[in-house]
Amino acid sequence: MPLEFASAANRTILARHHQYRIDEALAESRYRSRFRNWDRLATVRNNPIRPLGDSGELFFTPELVRSLDHPILAGADSRTREAVLVHRLYEYLKFTIDLEQSAVIPVTGHISRGMAGLELPELMRADAFKIVTDEAWHAQFTYELMREVRTRTGIAPALPTVPAFTEVLARIHEELPSQIRGLDEMLFAIVSETLISSG
Ligand SMILES: [Fe+2]
Repeated sequence: MPLEFASAANRTILARHHQYRIDEALAESRYRSRFRNWDRLATVRNNPIRPLGDSGELFFTPELVRSLDHPILAGADSRTREAVLVHRLYEYLKFTIDLEQSAVIPVTGHISRGMAGLELPELMRADAFKIVTDEAWHAQFTYELMREVRTRTGIAPALPTVPAFTEVLARIHEELPSQIRGLDEMLFAIVSETLISSG
């Protein structure tokens, strides 16, 4: 009798395993990779870092910098106003670097290694490795651009070492129930990267 039970249980396990393999194969066949031409098209493969142009253009769009409308800056000389634009550019570039390095790459790294708590097709995980590379490249060339602006202008960035958004994220993470902790990081990476990509 115990043997009979064991063989029935084994059959159930085998059936489940079989079903899982079928589901897995289905997911694989349905996945349409958008990275099939990655080797040929990826910026990191094709475009070396371009040096900053010498066209004498402003470093940031003044219309997007509201502080320039403040009476103190509105009446300031052009050098001061341009310095504000440079600092706004630093802020934007540093935010990009922080976002890639502290929010996007950790999540895509977990996905690529199968540690994100998701069951994903093998090909999708392989693509996640390419995303990690792309995002690391975004951060790298953004950092190089920052260095170049500093050399060109002689203006040193004056930004906090720890970005404000990481502290907020850490607090949200701690406050979440343990069953869904981690989902916050993934959602933040998805939303922020989509905003940047579509911006
Ligand atoms: Fe990115």
